[in-house]
Amino acid sequence: MSTANGLRAVAATRYVTPLREGGSLPGLVEADDLGMYVLKFRGAGQGVKALVAEVIVGELARALGFRVPEIVLADLDPELGRAEPDEEVQELLRASGGRNLGFDYLPGSFDFNPLVRDPGPDLAARVLWLDALVLNVDRSWRNPNLLLWHRDVWLIDHGAALYFHHRFGPGWRPAPDYRYDAGDHVMLPVAGPVTEADRELRPLLTGDLLRRTLALVPDEWLAQDGAFATPDDARAAYTAFFDARLATSSRWVDALEATRAARV
Ligand SMILES: Nc1ncnc2c1ncn2[C@@H]1O[C@H](COP(=O)(O)OP(=O)(O)OP(=O)(O)O)[C@@H](O)[C@H]1O
Ligand SMILES: [Mg+2]
Repeated sequence: MSTANGLRAVAATRYVTPLREGGSLPGLVEADDLGMYVLKFRGAGQGVKALVAEVIVGELARALGFRVPEIVLADLDPELGRAEPDEEVQELLRASGGRNLGFDYLPGSFDFNPLVRDPGPDLAARVLWLDALVLNVDRSWRNPNLLLWHRDVWLIDHGAALYFHHRFGPGWRPAPDYRYDAGDHVMLPVAGPVTEADRELRPLLTGDLLRRTLALVPDEWLAQDGAFATPDDARAAYTAFFDARLATSSRWVDALEATRAARV
């Protein structure tokens, strides 16, 4: 089934197992389309803002040509947790009735390490550019959040990006600048010039693409903290952030180049 706004919707039918590596206790579930999904729960400590960031950044990344597992809206009946022996999981499922976020499960994938397999300077620089754009600090060599699957690099886990939205409220404005420290970024040692990635990717990130991407985020997640009067006011705030961030890209791209030069 497809929702009007574009993300496919499924219903979870079986909770298979928790993915213990994940800080937010994501779980593997089976859905009514017989697919397997990594579920990120609305009731997890990170809250629905993390799910909003996953949709915005994941779908922008996909549109910019990165590989990202399909993202679906996954409906969860909290009763699914009844048979689950683990109390923490039971609690999480109970707190997550309704709409959650699912990611197509990539079976047999494993953590990507650019020092073991070189992704190439272009892809590495593009990932660096993307993460600096959306302020994603969750791509360090300690926790790369990149999967290798069928010989390709897949991007996952964007819930910590766009962290400014935790301070949303009436009258919110994007800051004139945001600090982004790429010193620990997993791609830093292998990336080519980020100026080239900027030249290639920035023109693709149009106002229209942004509008379509923001439309994919369910209204109920955007409205939930009451920071704005309407979901579209929240979308306007994200738009203001991206407009400002893209307009000043030469500044943060230069900073990335300086970090890269210091490292190599
Ligand atoms: N689509 C997927 N296919 C296969 N495995 C996945 C997928 N998504 C996530 N995983 C596995 O589950 C782990 C946890 O997922 P993810 O990093 O998205 O969750 P998290 O709770 O945000 O983690 P973190 O601890 O990094 O904050 C990943 O490191 C990866 O091993
Ligand atoms: Mg992770």
